[in-house]
Amino acid sequence: MKTIVVYESKYGSTKKYAEWLADSLACELYERKAIRPEKLREYDTIVYGGGLYAGGVSGIRLLIDNFEALRHKNLVLFTCGLADPTDAENVARIRAGLAKALAPQMLETIKVFHLRGGIDYAKLGPVHKTMMAMLCAMTKKKGYDTLRNEEKEMLDTYGKIVDFTDRATTKPILDYIAGL
Ligand SMILES: Cc1cc2nc3c(=O)[nH]c(=O)nc-3n(C[C@H](O)[C@H](O)[C@H](O)COP(=O)(O)O)c2cc1C
Repeated sequence: MKTIVVYESKYGSTKKYAEWLADSLACELYERKAIRPEKLREYDTIVYGGGLYAGGVSGIRLLIDNFEALRHKNLVLFTCGLADPTDAENVARIRAGLAKALAPQMLETIKVFHLRGGIDYAKLGPVHKTMMAMLCAMTKKKGYDTLRNEEKEMLDTYGKIVDFTDRATTKPILDYIAGL
């Protein structure tokens, strides 16, 4: 079975997971911008990973725009975000975001996993820095005691370096692919 891992990563967390997966799977690894969509037809299993930004998955258009050509393949998507994916409410939010971007048929076909990334506020570009500052200011206004754990954690770590990347969390993806 021919497998490929493709990713889009703005600050490196998704890239790290994609590299771990490609290493474990002993398969090819491509950055989304470096691959021609037609090349994906050569593979049986396509793993796509993208960072979460305001509920959207970076580079997800690669799967959407080429779905017709790829729908009979094993399609695996992993998201990489700051929110803890062991929290069911966070997963529900990510899924709701995916449901906005992907047609129901795509969601049925694509096997989805969620991994946890990190953030280094000092490295954010100006637009992302502003977005995070606005999000934190809005969250603060709600009153600390009313916040979800996720929001409290975001305020507590605002401006710092947070890194939740963990190779062990790729295991469910590897197990799923091994079972195909
Ligand atoms: C502007 C902005 C919006 C973000 N939105 C989300 C989000 O909706 N959900 C989430 O879990 N993480 C969110 N994050 C955190 C990123 O998903 C996290 O930093 C991830 O590790 C990025 O992966 P990458 O560096 O590979 O692109 C956001 C980060 C920024 C800077």
